[in-house]
Amino acid sequence: METNETPLSASAKTGVSRRGFLGGMAATALGAATLASLSGCGQQAPASSAKGEEETTALASGNASFKEGTYTSTQHTPYATAEVTCTFDGTGLGSASYTVTATSEKDYFPLYAPALEELCETVAAAGKTAGVDAVSGATFCSNAILDGVDACTLQALEVTAPRPEQLNPQQAGWDTFEGTCDKVFSPIKLGAMELPNRVVKSAGSGVWADANKDKLPVAKELYGAMAENGVALNLLAGGNLSGFGILPDSLDKTDGTLDEALTRAAELTDAIHAGGGKVGFQMCFGGLAPSVPDEVINETPVKDLDAFIDRVGTSAERAKTAGFDCIEIKGASADALNGFLTRRVNKREDEYGPQSIENRTRLFVRMIQKIKEVNGDDFPVGALINGVEENDSELGDNELFMTKEEGIEIAKAMEAAGADWIQVRVGAKSGEMNIWAPDVQHIAPNADGLTGYGTVFDYTAHFDGAVDGSRSGFASFLPLVAAIKEQVSVPVGCAACLDLRLGPDYINDAIAQGSIDLVFMNRPLNCDPELVSKIQEGRRQDVRPCMKCMHCHDNIGSNKTVPSSCRMNASSFNSLTDTMPEGMVPTPAEKAREIMVVGAGPAGMEAARVAAERGHSVTLYDSEMSLGGLIPFAKGVKGGHERFDDYLTYMAAQLEKNGVNVQLGTTVDAALVKEQAPDAVVVATGGVRESRFSGSNVLAPRDAFSPAATGDKVAVLGSGVQAIDFAAFLVSQGKQVVILNEGDAATLDKGQSGWFKSYMLPYLRSNGTQIHSNVQIASVDGSGVAFKTAAGLDKTIACDTVVEFYDMQPNTALADELQKVGVEVYTVGDAAEPHNIQRAVTTGNLCARAL
Ligand SMILES: Cc1cc2nc3c(=O)[nH]c(=O)nc-3n(C[C@H](O)[C@H](O)[C@H](O)COP(=O)(O)OP(=O)(O)OC[C@H]3O[C@@H](n4cnc5c(N)ncnc54)[C@H](O)[C@@H]3O)c2cc1C
Ligand SMILES: Cc1cc2nc3c(=O)[nH]c(=O)nc-3n(C[C@H](O)[C@H](O)[C@H](O)COP(=O)(O)O)c2cc1C
Ligand code: SF4
Repeated sequence: METNETPLSASAKTGVSRRGFLGGMAATALGAATLASLSGCGQQAPASSAKGEEETTALASGNASFKEGTYTSTQHTPYATAEVTCTFDGTGLGSASYTVTATSEKDYFPLYAPALEELCETVAAAGKTAGVDAVSGATFCSNAILDGVDACTLQALEVTAPRPEQLNPQQAGWDTFEGTCDKVFSPIKLGAMELPNRVVKSAGSGVWADANKDKLPVAKELYGAMAENGVALNLLAGGNLSGFGILPDSLDKTDGTLDEALTRAAELTDAIHAGGGKVGFQMCFGGLAPSVPDEVINETPVKDLDAFIDRVGTSAERAKTAGFDCIEIKGASADALNGFLTRRVNKREDEYGPQSIENRTRLFVRMIQKIKEVNGDDFPVGALINGVEENDSELGDNELFMTKEEGIEIAKAMEAAGADWIQVRVGAKSGEMNIWAPDVQHIAPNADGLTGYGTVFDYTAHFDGAVDGSRSGFASFLPLVAAIKEQVSVPVGCAACLDLRLGPDYINDAIAQGSIDLVFMNRPLNCDPELVSKIQEGRRQDVRPCMKCMHCHDNIGSNKTVPSSCRMNASSFNSLTDTMPEGMVPTPAEKAREIMVVGAGPAGMEAARVAAERGHSVTLYDSEMSLGGLIPFAKGVKGGHERFDDYLTYMAAQLEKNGVNVQLGTTVDAALVKEQAPDAVVVATGGVRESRFSGSNVLAPRDAFSPAATGDKVAVLGSGVQAIDFAAFLVSQGKQVVILNEGDAATLDKGQSGWFKSYMLPYLRSNGTQIHSNVQIASVDGSGVAFKTAAGLDKTIACDTVVEFYDMQPNTALADELQKVGVEVYTVGDAAEPHNIQRAVTTGNLCARAL
């Protein structure tokens, strides 16, 4: 632990530049005013938006009033936690102190600890403010301390109102884990079925849907493991199990494959039962909107609906025979059944039409009743509904959106029909976007609450105020669930970033306070099937963190039904296939070998972890003094939503646990390999990026990180995920950005997940970013960039700064050299084929399994 207590009286230091206080697009008038007033330097606050103007003027003129007292703030970095304490008198900051506790056991902390000692002195030198640059050599820690001072300052100014440009102010401190989660682990009854705890796996098409074909072993292994590790009920998406023959578009598919499908279903339900869990079948109808034209809802004659209800009965019987303990009916997202519930789609004129809640819910109600009729009253049936609707492509009032009050009425109708639980989502016209709204809306730095148009979404003005965007997406739907729960007596819950790893105490408290009964999760469990038992055992640090990146949904909707593998868990959809025949758990190595892994980015860390787990003796090298490769930089650029800190902390702990010898600050060359004489070398050195131009205004990515390093107008040369994220970072600083892409438009944001891409590009465009694709960049000089457009025109863009962020190239120099001298060598991650974290982790994992 490093402690520093320095009264702010130290003499001025030279070479300290100001950093953007409360930086970013939301670098608000208040932030600037705080800086001016605290520093006592009489600095004028920059122009501000109307709401902050008055306050700014008051502060800048020295009338700010600081509430006397001592304030504290806790900030996290990948390697340490900083506790900052500031004392304010009536005129400003009196003293600041900090305690930094290393959260990683690595020995690099002492190396930057001395740099931290400069910090309070530096703050003082800048004039009693935190408006200084991070201390070189201690960037993460000192940024955390400076952020802590910022946070304390806001407390002293009693700033509770939202900052003008930040429509959705973010809370802190919701992600604690101090309790036992006793409420999460308390039993609950869904009708006649008792569950030992509140955790339900929300349906996820993918391995189960594909169990029809060759993925049954994967599904059995994955879902069996979830059951063994405490998932009380697993809801399996039934959409693709056409053998059950209930989908409107597959009513006649009860062909010879039926028996086979039922046998496979029984094998899977057996595997889940053997693990100690219950299993439910999700009846869903046609997936995304385009596959279910509105005509299916509006023109299906009633006699067909009667036949459909019969088919539902048959399907339910079959599900019970195959071992399912319950059925969840999906009337949410953009499924066909939701088309009956929403006035937006339902235009019928009969008793199933939009005229009343009774009519809208009639089909749903009949289905619940039918299932109970055929399977018995004690056979539990759940209802998955949208509790409120909105659509970001029609922002604003729209009388056809389902209101929260209607959502409540629909829930009541479900309960009256016999539903034993209700799962709640928010609805949208454009497919299932809102299931992941909590994530896609938070992907751009400092712009919490993005719409699909790239503008910032004001939650208080949308979704009837029932969605809460104040925790970077976590538990967003909770107010909606609470409002419904108040009106019904059956258990109610939701999924969508209600990740038990992220906010265990928060979820537990929500259950204790009666806001929610059931904790539905999907992605976090795919990422770590042991999540529940680890939380129950108090081992949150051992849970592999789901980063909410949406790569697991990338292939849905294209020609494949199987998701890509998880970014963090290479095995979650791949085990027991040709790729990973041994299953999720790597087999012990036949013979322990000495392995050198070069590069501690995602690829190298994963390779080292898995190789060590298999029993090899592994040394992981990196020339940098920290783990993570590009990740710490990416985190600085991208902001906190994807929780890169959690990933780094998790990986550091896993490497240690598996006995990997980590050698940081060590550059590996052929000579070192020769000296160490390992049995094999894994080269995970990351990609290389070319630099084509020179000049004082041309910067490499890392040199452009500080807002002070770039001018007001910046040209980003490149178009992959790294360039696009960096452009968003610049936008968040209020810079004007031009992206010059030498590829075609399809290459924009390459490496990013489809859902994120669909929000990020509109965000850039709506903030004035110009994007030119298919260009040929010709030259750069002090005034800007000359290029040829796709149409062959010569054009020049004036800018202050040019950042070279071209896609990386493979980096095989070391591997080639080693190969030449007969070393057994493998190349993984960006070094082999630059792309993204998912590919880096997967290639690292697979390589280590083969060693
Ligand atoms: C701004 C930014 C945003 C990004 N956004 C995303 C995103 O949204 N999604 C996504 O999936 N990816 C994103 N990425 C890309 C992602 O970070 C990389 O694809 C990933 O880190 C590649 O992992 P890696 O392990 O192959 O290589 P790296 O992370 O590059 O790690 C390589 C490591 O090898 C070390 N090394 C190199 N040579 C030697 C040597 N001779 N001896 C010892 N050590 C050596 C380096 O120091 C480095 O630490 C982003 C990257 C950046 C910079
Ligand atoms: C790959 C994938 C497939 C999904 N398939 C379904 C499905 O078939 N039925 C359904 O109701 N929800 C489906 N969902 C939505 C999830 O049930 C869940 O609501 C969503 O992932 C948000 O919860 P989470 O944050 O816990 O992942 C799917 C999600 C993913 C990522
Ligand atoms: S791919 Fe990303 S969002 Fe999906 S489960 Fe894995 S870490 Fe979570």
